[in-house]
Amino acid sequence: MKRTSQIPELREIIALERNRGRKIALIPTMGYLHQGHLTLVERAKQTGAFVVLSIFVNPLQFGPTEDYSSYPRDLERDVRLVEAAGVDALFHPTDHEMYPHPIVTYVEVGQLDTVLCGAKRPGHFRGVVTVVSKLFHIVQPDLSFFGQKDYQQYLIIQRMVSDLNLPIEVCSVPIVREEDGLAISSRNVFLTLEQRQEALILSKSLNEAEIHIRVGVKSAREIELNIRERISRESHGIIDYVEVRDAGDLSEVVNVESTVLIALAVRFGSTRLIDNKVVEVRTFV
Ligand code: PAJ
Repeated sequence: MKRTSQIPELREIIALERNRGRKIALIPTMGYLHQGHLTLVERAKQTGAFVVLSIFVNPLQFGPTEDYSSYPRDLERDVRLVEAAGVDALFHPTDHEMYPHPIVTYVEVGQLDTVLCGAKRPGHFRGVVTVVSKLFHIVQPDLSFFGQKDYQQYLIIQRMVSDLNLPIEVCSVPIVREEDGLAISSRNVFLTLEQRQEALILSKSLNEAEIHIRVGVKSAREIELNIRERISRESHGIIDYVEVRDAGDLSEVVNVESTVLIALAVRFGSTRLIDNKVVEVRTFV
């Protein structure tokens, strides 16, 4: 596996492969890798492309009171994991390599970032899309891989690629969960044993909501309320949001009549967890 923190060196590595006719796949991450990230690697490898994985904890996407400095980091552990997973090149730039001077040019996200995590974390998606756009320019991948764990992020990046005519195929991978249902996240290491147990309520209440939809509950408010009540009743989690939205454009839903996203963010102590479920609903006419 090739490994570099330098943009010019990465470009040379990639140019060589492109000249050999290989397609290039990019998997952007913030490291502290787990099975979720490694599933993106598996999917990328299946395409036969030269797989580049980036590790960069992007300061631009963290708010002033968020966990940028405490975000878990362990580069040497990550190196071993990506090497074993068959990544072809690892890019792990320093802050200075990515932001040699204060940035004044951003990629702005309209509308899609005014809801869900965007509403709760102002500037977050601008930071995400700006860094992903920089990585796209550095790597110039043919394909890129994102997890549905961050469904809103995936939609926003897909939209950026379409709005800005980038010749990149954006592929998504379903949420990877622990055996007991907890969505895997780098932040799970911060949970106490008790919080870890209580956090199971997130996937359980999403599954229950899907069942409610399947048996005919239509009201989005009723579904949201059921989830809220269950989380409040059965855990100490503090709810940031629970929302049922259109899975295509995140617009508001009153009655569930087409495919919806049920998304939630809940704090357990100082750890904010997100989870979601896409429920496909077909209307027959
Ligand atoms: P990070 O949280 O490290 O996630 C990197 C990628 O892994 C994202 O596409 C995310 O959706 C995916 N992922 C994380 N946990 C997953 C799980 N349990 N199942 C499936 N996919 C999962 O998301 C970011 O980093 C950053 O915002 C980034 C895009 C790298 C920009 O800085």
